[in-house]
Amino acid sequence: MADSTPAPATEAAPNPNANRSTTPVSSSFRDYISSQWAERSETLPSPREVAAFAAARRLRISALHPGERLIIPAGPAKVRSNDTDYAYRPHSSFAHLTGWGAEAVPDSVLIMEPTPNGHDATLYFRPSAGRDSDEFYANAAIGEFWLGPRPSLAQVAADLALATRPLSELDELLVARDGASRGLDDEELLRDLSELRLVKDAWEIAQMRLAIAATKQGFDDVIADRPAITAHPRGERLVEGTFNRRARAEGNQVGYDTIAASGAHACILHWTTNDGPVMPGDLILIDAGVELDSLYTADITRTLPIGGTYSEVQRRVYEAVREAADAAFAIVRPGIRFREIHAEAMRIIAEKTAEWGFLPVTAEESLVPEAQYHRRYMVHGTSHHLGIDVHDCAQARRDLYLDGVLEPGMVFTIEPGLYLQPDDLTVPEEYRGIGVRIEDNILVTADGAENLSIAIPRTADDVEAWLAG
Ligand code: GLY
Ligand code: MN
Ligand code: MN
Repeated sequence: MADSTPAPATEAAPNPNANRSTTPVSSSFRDYISSQWAERSETLPSPREVAAFAAARRLRISALHPGERLIIPAGPAKVRSNDTDYAYRPHSSFAHLTGWGAEAVPDSVLIMEPTPNGHDATLYFRPSAGRDSDEFYANAAIGEFWLGPRPSLAQVAADLALATRPLSELDELLVARDGASRGLDDEELLRDLSELRLVKDAWEIAQMRLAIAATKQGFDDVIADRPAITAHPRGERLVEGTFNRRARAEGNQVGYDTIAASGAHACILHWTTNDGPVMPGDLILIDAGVELDSLYTADITRTLPIGGTYSEVQRRVYEAVREAADAAFAIVRPGIRFREIHAEAMRIIAEKTAEWGFLPVTAEESLVPEAQYHRRYMVHGTSHHLGIDVHDCAQARRDLYLDGVLEPGMVFTIEPGLYLQPDDLTVPEEYRGIGVRIEDNILVTADGAENLSIAIPRTADDVEAWLAG
């Protein structure tokens, strides 16, 4: 990174750049660097496609909060260490209500100001600083020389079809106007914003299809990269790197840390250390999703035999998990309850683990709520809503989520697994160290369901053909 100018030190926060060279401060330098820049022509874009959808979403949240000011910040950049930040990502509800995704300017705030008929929405953000300021060259945190140009108020207003004002006016506004207001620290507003996303609109569903298509490309890349992956002592890192390279090329980044879990690491549900080797006889569990610039993410898991074919016992476990996934998918249609999906998958998991002699009781006995012995081999749930957050709609009420009734437009995962730990004495030795998860992204349709990720091979035979081809 280039050396940056010190920000003024305060007693509370010592200057992190006290030892770094500074930008010149003489008036002759200021005059010189502020002059002789070509005029920028400002062409205003047409509104982006999402703008009309975002306006409809704002109307729905407006109707739930008449007479209240709603304050929805994008959030600040987060420090990673000293003066370097994590890659910026705006708050999901901010992105949902504005249509501004990965490119959103940090610290922006959407204000929905109550009116007699609803709300007026205004986006406050920090527009580009003029060359008459010293921000553009001397401010490493936000300056154009450091981070690149920001759009103007007029550009963003046209792009998002939303009124815009400079962020510098926001404090004044909030002090000047009293009355009821809610922000993202308000549980009720967070709940409503979460529930607003339970049913996806047509634009969101299109984004999910694009995210899943890009994720398929990432899996294809990993498969093509197998010779390098198996040759490297930290092959799991190469799996992660290859997938994430595709994610960066096609979108913003990955929607969550890529899980590349080879051999017994697959029994660790969220293995993201990814520092192990990838050995020819093993399975590798890859749980990964591309997050687009719009911030919609896929969440897909495939468990692949590195050497190209499943051993007999690997195939038995794999196909049992697939049977559980297929059984769960088969019942999905509007009108059923979300939790029935998990119950259906668990019916198969109990049957299989009983059949293989793992359980101290029959499958039926294991399925009663007080028993649940089969859950030793799959401690996680089968499904979660998916969208702009990988675990989307997380603040929704239980009545609308876990106990909720499915409606067309809902998108969620079906992701059963079996994790037979290498030191689990309840399973015969030949099974130990096998971990399998199959995760697909499902859309509820008018009369049933669509597996949005069906193009990514998922039966044992199809996976073997995929690796061979
Ligand atoms: N990748 C996290 C999950 O599957 O929920
Ligand atoms: Mn998932
Ligand atoms: Mn996943």
